[in-house]
Amino acid sequence: MRPHRQPVDPNTPMQWQVFRQLWPYLLEFKQRVILALLCLVAAKLASIGLPFILKHTVDSLNDDTVKALAVPLSLVFAYGVLRLSNVLLGEVRDTLFGRVTERAMRRLGLQVFEHLHRLDLGFHLSRQTGGLSRDIERGTSGISFLMRFMVFNICPTLLEIALVVGVLLTQYGVSFALIILCSVIAYVWFSMKATDWRTEYVRQVNQADSSTNTRAIDSLLNYETVKYFNNEQYEANLYDSNLAQWETARRKNRLSLFALNGGQAFIIATAMTSMLLLAALEVGEGNMTIGDFVLINAFTMQIFMPLNFLGFVYREIRGSLANIENLFKLLDRTPQVDDSQDATTLVTHEGRIEFEQVSFAYHDDRPILSNVSFTVEPGSKVAVVGESGAGKSTLVKLLFRFYDPASGRITIDGQNIADVTQHSLRQHIGIVPQDTVLFNDSIFENIRYGRPDANEEDVYEAIRLAHLDQFISQLPEGAQTKVGERGLKLSGGEKQRVAIARAILKRPAIMVFDEATSSLDSQSEQAILRALREVAKGHTSLVIAHRLSTIVDADKILVMSQGRLIEHGNHDALLNQQGVYAGLWQAQQKQAT
Ligand SMILES: Nc1ncnc2c1ncn2[C@@H]1O[C@H](COP(=O)(O)OP(=O)(O)O)[C@@H](O)[C@H]1O
Ligand SMILES: [Mg+2]
Repeated sequence: MRPHRQPVDPNTPMQWQVFRQLWPYLLEFKQRVILALLCLVAAKLASIGLPFILKHTVDSLNDDTVKALAVPLSLVFAYGVLRLSNVLLGEVRDTLFGRVTERAMRRLGLQVFEHLHRLDLGFHLSRQTGGLSRDIERGTSGISFLMRFMVFNICPTLLEIALVVGVLLTQYGVSFALIILCSVIAYVWFSMKATDWRTEYVRQVNQADSSTNTRAIDSLLNYETVKYFNNEQYEANLYDSNLAQWETARRKNRLSLFALNGGQAFIIATAMTSMLLLAALEVGEGNMTIGDFVLINAFTMQIFMPLNFLGFVYREIRGSLANIENLFKLLDRTPQVDDSQDATTLVTHEGRIEFEQVSFAYHDDRPILSNVSFTVEPGSKVAVVGESGAGKSTLVKLLFRFYDPASGRITIDGQNIADVTQHSLRQHIGIVPQDTVLFNDSIFENIRYGRPDANEEDVYEAIRLAHLDQFISQLPEGAQTKVGERGLKLSGGEKQRVAIARAILKRPAIMVFDEATSSLDSQSEQAILRALREVAKGHTSLVIAHRLSTIVDADKILVMSQGRLIEHGNHDALLNQQGVYAGLWQAQQKQAT
């Protein structure tokens, strides 16, 4: 999706505090910044000198007493040199400062990225990744814009205006300086007001632009669905109605831009005319030379040229400040789940998991787990079964500490998982999740992700154990085949086997399987289960199962319903109880035959 700038509500105050937060980034390259500023001042002085040279050239050309051409010619030459150095100084300044801006963007980009990974799962689930990446992009490009334009557009323009007003005041009296000053103030005032007034139209255009984009992308992502239902025309109509809104918004925007530019041009024209009129009168009365007239003209042009950008720069700076502020707000968010200050490193001896009276809810008004207690003895296999939505996967999320329980505690070998670092906790648990999402990389690299320092042999061993070898041998590019975005080019069963291979490669003390074989056909399932049993030997394992036939050998089976444990025991004991488990078992047995 095309990133678009979010215009700012004209009523929001300017976020000046952002400058304080950006200060450290400027200080990182003190010398560069100072040199760049020196270049800036030098360039401005050169540009102030230009009209004076022009004046003297004109005067010497006009002067009948000076017969030789040497004087005006050398002045023209000096003019060229000064103009060149003005431009070159500007380039040197940009080159010097570019480094500072880019370093700031890099630092902040990394900081935000790391922070995003530190934030909790709850934050990420409620946030659109697309929107998030746009926020980051807007924030960092805002910084670049702000640094460049604040330092090198607004400040120098103000400096130049002050210099010119000073020169006019000392050399030509109050009137010229006054005209310049008044018109600059009028110009700035008008530009700000008109820009704020236009914001609404700019916002409409951006909104239409992004909804048109979203519509087109959503439609193309659903390519297959569109074809299944023969809805090309329907999609085209929707898209066109979005485009029509965009067209209208653009028209209004263009008209408002016309008003802004027209008003600015009027102020400039009035100022220039009065300056020149005054100068012409003075020349007529003999108080000023033709050269002075040329000088006044040159100064006036020089002042108003950069001002032309002002409306644009003002709007962009407002936008940049707001975007950077957004980014800093993101950085200020504290994760819901965080390592405690005195977090220790989890030490596993045997891998004994204990849930003690754990209750949990994603949202306060809907409890998901109520008073769940159970123990997984070291080296044993515990299975959890129950209807969809019972809270089985939630148990796993709590064990991984993606969320903290509302009450109760979870311990591993006697250590509360809330008191150890998340890094050490997750190091000791391996998982085959319910839905596996893969990186858009090769099968090989996706498996190696389980242990990035694993050597090639280990990876192929894991591939073999996960029964992926036969599938891979059919692929022209073998294990180097790319899996597509989110792994969409693999079937559900193939993705699960990649996830299993990853977990096998990691070989942690505790293994968790969340319906790890649900997408496999019975035959592959049996083969993989055998492999998993092999791998899990000596490990503690928690198995969430869909098909009961896969967990008959479990040391303990927990039956969950609506967030509660309602039965537990081994397979035979549960069958003898004639309860929920026995009912489920009979139903599945019937299906199988
Ligand atoms: N991030 C979430 N926010 C809100 N509700 C959730 C979230 N994740 C799961 N749920 C809800 O919690 C309940 C239990 O989910 P889950 O533990 O995934 O069930 P299952 O037993 O099928 O694995 C479901 O009703 C689900 O809708
Ligand atoms: Mg689940």
